[in-house]
Amino acid sequence: MNKKVTVVGGAGNVGSTVARCIADKALADVVVVDIAGQKAAGVALDMLESCPITGSDSRVIGGADYAQTANSDIVVITSGVPRKPGMSRDDLLNVNFAIMKAVTAEVVKHSPNCIIVPVANPLDAMCQAVYRLSGFPRERVIGMAGVLDSARMRTFIAMELGVSVENVHAFVLGGHGDTMVPLPRYSTVAGVPITELMPKDRVDAICKRTADGGAEITKLVGTSAWYAPGAAATEMVECILKDKKKILPCSVFLQGEYGIHDLFVGVPAKLGARGMEQIMEITLTAEEHAALQKSAAAVKELVDVIKV
Ligand code: NAI
Ligand code: 2OP
Repeated sequence: MNKKVTVVGGAGNVGSTVARCIADKALADVVVVDIAGQKAAGVALDMLESCPITGSDSRVIGGADYAQTANSDIVVITSGVPRKPGMSRDDLLNVNFAIMKAVTAEVVKHSPNCIIVPVANPLDAMCQAVYRLSGFPRERVIGMAGVLDSARMRTFIAMELGVSVENVHAFVLGGHGDTMVPLPRYSTVAGVPITELMPKDRVDAICKRTADGGAEITKLVGTSAWYAPGAAATEMVECILKDKKKILPCSVFLQGEYGIHDLFVGVPAKLGARGMEQIMEITLTAEEHAALQKSAAAVKELVDVIKV
């Protein structure tokens, strides 16, 4: 029997991209759920009709009814308002928190053993909300942001040095917001830190462009990005379904790691069949550590507003 992945908000930009990537790769059967039920049904049918062409045996269905999501292995939550030009991710806090409340109750009711991958913004605060509302263990709530931010940084490094993106590894830690922490010392090309491959001003420019990466797309498109976010969430889903044990930067609930307590913040984590299987604590300089603490404080401010 195929594995089953539900994408809530799946009629939207990010959700439909995640659903399509999963079906294209034949990773699982996919349930596209959205408050816009008719659109979800149509989007799912359109994806299903692409499967004979792509050679995928994924079964894709959609609608507004959570009954069809029963016993999903993974639920990706992309339902939420995206930002418009000039808005920060934090401007979405209260409206998306209300959506998380409604959605999490349904997810837990129909798939009590699933792993949840929140995507809606502000990401780390929404993870904390889903974690508290679901009552799931921390291993089963893993937020998507670091994979996206690192992919953006990898793109900019590859462009700068004229090398294949496959040679580039990048790490971005912290909350998914203006205070995110790109780590050039741990970002490499064929194993060589980028700090040895380009002058400091170019490294700094790449870090800044990475932190501004979401706003850059929002300004160009008029709403926030979906191709790279969809690919990023799919990579997490694939790691879990295939029990790959890959280390990816994810927003996870820290309980003392990196000196941070009871808060979702982006750090390197091992993803496998049990969800978040291990947090990797890498050595940080005093400056990097301070930047991570500052980013965690920004997440805490939001979490305190919604009291989760
Ligand atoms: P969108 O507006 O295209 O899609 C959102 C979908 O959610 C819509 O189809 C809407 O009908 C649905 N929805 C709203 N309330 C719902 C509810 N109660 N139950 C079920 N479905 C509901 O927005 P887009 O661009 O797909 O973005 C979705 C969210 O993901 C936003 O909050 C955005 O900021 C966030 N995002 C996060 C990223 C990350 O790195 N974590 C990257 C990109 C976007
Ligand atoms: C992004 O980084 C808006 O969080 C979204 O593209």
